[in-house]
Amino acid sequence: MSNEYSYDENSAPTYEQITRMLGKDAEADETAAFLERFSGGRSALELGIGSGRVAVPLSERGVKVEGIDNSDSMLKLLAKRTGLIKAWNEDIADFTPEQRYDLVYCVYNTFTLLSRREEQIACLRSAAQALHEAGVFVIELRVPVLAGFVNGQKTSTTLVDRDNTFINAAIHEPLKQNLISTLLWFSGTSVRRFPQRSRYVFHQELDTMAEYVGLELAERWGDWARGAFTDASNRHISVYRRTGSPKTSPHSADP
Ligand SMILES: C[S@@+](CC[C@H](N)C(=O)[O-])C[C@H]1O[C@@H](n2cnc3c(N)ncnc32)[C@H](O)[C@@H]1O
Repeated sequence: MSNEYSYDENSAPTYEQITRMLGKDAEADETAAFLERFSGGRSALELGIGSGRVAVPLSERGVKVEGIDNSDSMLKLLAKRTGLIKAWNEDIADFTPEQRYDLVYCVYNTFTLLSRREEQIACLRSAAQALHEAGVFVIELRVPVLAGFVNGQKTSTTLVDRDNTFINAAIHEPLKQNLISTLLWFSGTSVRRFPQRSRYVFHQELDTMAEYVGLELAERWGDWARGAFTDASNRHISVYRRTGSPKTSPHSADP
């Protein structure tokens, strides 16, 4: 895959700060609690582990967490934070699992950073191969918002406070289901840029891709507290098990 949008030594620390300001750090414990339930208290692999926002609290709950990421800068931030998590540089679109895990997970829309359908399918296939027979794959994805684009472009304000303004400028490439965007962070007299290319996916396409590689939907929620996934949801948390493997929880699949 192209590394054009990899997190480098400038964007990695900027990513961490933006994530904190958008409230994602605050929900990391809740995310870890949700994931712990599926890890059997044993082993987990995070795809796109970053600096360990979720992996660290999950490992603090006694789960042996490992992770892959294609950014050395993010892996360095993780290593600075903890020595307990084994993580290595690899592409989540093209990895060969060396062992099997009770849980494989990919959160915070990381999956959409694979900007081609083939890469997304390859990622799901590797995730399935990395699971024990009764293991589960958990993914957190935003519900695509395509409203508001005019002539293929949209600019939106995502945060304003006394000291900071976040403006997101996006271009839509509908044939590829791609959004090319740059988050512009104005603060004092500085402007920081956080560019990315993503391929948005609706949940039904995700289910079809998952079925294609031997995964079936077990549960789907609207948030980490297991709120319902509805027409009003802006994201979903979906839990897949390997086709034919035993049920992992008493909950039935939602829409
Ligand atoms: C949105 S961040 C999420 C980080 C972390 N999972 C979290 O929740 O805070 C996406 C992460 O995925 C990594 N990433 C993006 N594309 C990747 C790829 N193709 N292979 C491996 N890692 C990738 C980035 O370097 C970054 O650390």
